[in-house]
Amino acid sequence: MSYRNLRVLVTGGLGFIGSNLAIRLVELGARVTIVDPQMAGCGGNPHNIAPICDRVELISRDAGDADQFAGAIREAKVIFNLAGEISHIHSMEFPERDMLINAVSQLRFLQACARHNPGVRVVYAGTRQVYGKPDYLPMDERHPLRPVDFNGVHKYAANMYHDMLSRMGLLDGIVLRLTNVYGPRMSLSIPCQGFLSTFLRLVLTGKGLVVFGDGKQLRDPMFVDDAVKAFLLAGLAPTPPQRTINAGGPRALSLHQIARICARLAGDLPVELRPFPEDRAMIDIGSYFTDTSLLAETFGWKPSVHFEDGMMTTLAYYRAEMSHYLDPSNPQPCCGLPEHKGIPHRLTYAAL
Ligand SMILES: NC(=O)c1ccc[n+]([C@@H]2O[C@H](COP(=O)([O-])OP(=O)(O)OC[C@H]3O[C@@H](n4cnc5c(N)ncnc54)[C@H](O)[C@@H]3O)[C@@H](O)[C@H]2O)c1
Repeated sequence: MSYRNLRVLVTGGLGFIGSNLAIRLVELGARVTIVDPQMAGCGGNPHNIAPICDRVELISRDAGDADQFAGAIREAKVIFNLAGEISHIHSMEFPERDMLINAVSQLRFLQACARHNPGVRVVYAGTRQVYGKPDYLPMDERHPLRPVDFNGVHKYAANMYHDMLSRMGLLDGIVLRLTNVYGPRMSLSIPCQGFLSTFLRLVLTGKGLVVFGDGKQLRDPMFVDDAVKAFLLAGLAPTPPQRTINAGGPRALSLHQIARICARLAGDLPVELRPFPEDRAMIDIGSYFTDTSLLAETFGWKPSVHFEDGMMTTLAYYRAEMSHYLDPSNPQPCCGLPEHKGIPHRLTYAAL
């Protein structure tokens, strides 16, 4: 089976990973529909799909309003479900907003998928954040689930919706639990989207980097092309015995190493260590890197792009496309979220 002429639906397709996936799907000959309302505070950017904008259908709706685009769900042979809010900090500031985006909207979308296209393959972008502070590393799928922030809790709920509906035979879900992903088309202007987007914003505007803590915390950044390959394989694979599978980068690096590589590639900028601010320390998970052996066993494939190579490609992309991601004369991040804490932001669901 191949993607040629296959109808696929990509939720969150204006965002970082979703747009890279949609572009690759179009290159492979798929007929792509994107569902994305460009949710305020998330990384959706119409420029992300510039290379394919005349070859995809864009439905500017919340995935939770799924009954409004039932036809597109019915026709899809594979659904890539990447809609979501990724910021752990936003989730602590606006927990109800995070719940609406990452849990309620997902629940409504998946119920509609089960109703309009029972048994359809849905590949969901889960997160390593559901594990919380690791008891051991590398992190495998047997590790206890103890999320340390609301984002992890709500993404966990969505992971379980996929599992449960699949056990009931209503969906054929696969959840890829992603580590930190980086590459072209990440949002640079939204604060609190993780250290890799912050590092990129700073080095691209000629600033040095600050690493919180002693810099020894490990991460295994995964280049977006590697993540896209995992989604493409999961989309067409036979139903695997285990439906939730970790996806991580090829190598563990310390945050200090990661910062030094970014700073060096951008022109020998300085890197400084500073104590953790209190709000970050509370939800910090320490070190993390992924055991990708189940991914390799299931799909016969491992991530391959080394951080330095992926980062060079990423910097080259932004140097060419900078004006679509950041105003260098005013590179202040702004997420457009309201300042009143606790108020759910932008309720778009028709039924609410
Ligand atoms: N980037 C990472 O490192 C990472 C790590 C783990 C998991 N993930 C998951 O991968 C997915 C994609 O992340 P990303 O980095 O591309 O984020 P992103 O913010 O760049 O993109 C997310 C997209 O989803 C859209 N969206 C949000 N809520 C929606 C809704 N209710 N209906 C339809 N669209 C909606 C946004 O408008 C945005 O375009 C997310 O679900 C995220 O939790 C990402």
